[in-house]
Order: sequence, then C-alpha cells, then structure tokens
Amino acid sequence: MPPQLNLILIGPPGAGKGTQADRLREDFRLPFISTGEMLRTNVKQGTELGKAAKAHMDAGNLVPDDLIVAMAAERLDQDDTQDGFILDGFPRTTAQAEALEEQLDNEGRRITAAVLLAVPDAEIIKRIAGRRVCVKAGHNYHVDYDPPKNPGVCDQDGSRLIQRDDDMPEVVEKRLAVYHEQTAPLVGFYDERGLLRRVDGTRTPAEVHDHIRALIATLLLEESL
Ligand code: AP5
Repeated sequence: MPPQLNLILIGPPGAGKGTQADRLREDFRLPFISTGEMLRTNVKQGTELGKAAKAHMDAGNLVPDDLIVAMAAERLDQDDTQDGFILDGFPRTTAQAEALEEQLDNEGRRITAAVLLAVPDAEIIKRIAGRRVCVKAGHNYHVDYDPPKNPGVCDQDGSRLIQRDDDMPEVVEKRLAVYHEQTAPLVGFYDERGLLRRVDGTRTPAEVHDHIRALIATLLLEESL
C-alpha cells in the first residue's frame, strides 16, 4: 500500500497556509480541507452553521470548538480523505487537536506531520493588508508580493478581487492575539508527539513550497520504510 500522507498546516493568520495548500494539492493530488473556506461557504449560503459562525469570524474570534469539530469530522469521514489529506486551519485549539486525534485513532489513521509556517507578526500585518481574494472561488493574491496580471481581476477565473471582511486592520490584530493565545499551544502539542516540522514562512512562496515538498518527500520515504 502507498504511504498515507495526513498533513496539518499550522501558522498565524496570513502565514501562507492557503497559498501553500493550493500548491501542495497540485503536487500530491490530496484533498485540501480549509475550515476557514468551509465556514465562508456556509456564511455565503446562509446555512445554520454559517449564521452561527459569522459573528465570531467577523470579530476575529474562533468559532466554538463543538461546531468546528463536528464540521471537520464529517468532512474527514468522506471517502476522498481515506488515502490522505491536507488540513489548513484545523485544528486550532488543543480541544480540536484532541478530538482529531481521537477520531483518527478510532479509524486506524494518524497524523503524519504538523508543518508550522513561522512568520513574525509585523510581516503578517503587511501580508494581510495586501491580500485580495476572488469573489468566485477565493483564489488568493497580494497587491505587492503576488499581484494578478490585471489589477483587481482573478487570473484563474476572471472574477473580481476583494478584501476579506476579517482582513480589516482592527480584526487582524484580534486574530493575531487569538492565534498566540489559543493556537500557538499546538506547537508544543505536536512537538511532544514528534510530529512538528518547522518551516521558515518568511521566504518567497516558491522557496517555502520547495522546503515543504522536500520535507514531505522525506516523510513519505520514512513512512514507506
Ligand atoms: P482562515 O480562513 O483559516 O484564516 P487564517 O488562519 O486566519 O488564515 P488566512 O486565510 O488569513 O491566511 P493563510 O495562512 O491561509 O495565508 P494566505 O496563504 O492567504 O479562518 C478564518 C476564520 O474562520 C478564523 O478567524 C475563525 O473565525 C474561523 N475558523 C477557521 N478555522 C477554524 C477553527 N479550526 N476553529 C475555530 N474557528 C475557525 O497568505 C496571506 C497573504 O500573504 C496572501 O495575500 C498571499 O498572497 C501572501 N503570501 C503568502 N505566502 C507568502 C510569502 N511566502 N511571501 C509573501 N507573501 C505571501
């Protein structure tokens, strides 16, 4: 059986998790599960979950664990994740990490590695201020670091580029504080289990991508031995 890759991307808001997950999805043909994207879709569609999540997201807070754990568990039960997956933005609290561990344990699966994209707060603020996303599919750009070919227009689907509601400066500050308080403890959680891999997220997207790809190649080799 080919080795299974069950990967978690951890990092502060704007660290480049979505940017890297997009590239890795193409490299490894694995389902890429972003709880942020799933929540934004629910908000757009006006589902009960979307209604419950919106106020938390707009304020820069985390959505309550019980809602997130149920949403992620349902997604991870789907067939396409059985040969591997990349998680972006989940888990984000110790309670979520424990729930994920329990679910995978019960199903005879486990996390292969948790990749930490390390980026200092000052750089995060610049990245988020310049981020633009397309209205159609959420494709990601940066006005300086990764501009679209035509300003304000998505290269991939031609739709309009906008700023996310939670990318306003006052909300970003809150999201960073929440990250340090509630998500940063996961670095220790995965380090204790020997699963943490650190990547310098301040390098260019291509360099970060190369680093993660090399790291995954090593992990796959270790898994197949
Ligand atoms: P979510 O969508 O997950 O937001 P986030 O973690 O804050 O991450 P971002 O999407 O802001 O950033 P990213 O790391 O993907 O960076 P990106 O690649 O875009 O969550 C949103 C909200 O949903 C949360 O606040 C919370 O309310 C809720 N939520 C989600 N999951 C939850 C959970 N598990 N529990 C509870 N609540 C949850 O890059 C950022 C910018 O930088 C882009 O413009 C990009 O072009 C640029 N860039 C990327 N890499 C580089 C680079 N190497 N150099 C220069 N620029 C770069």
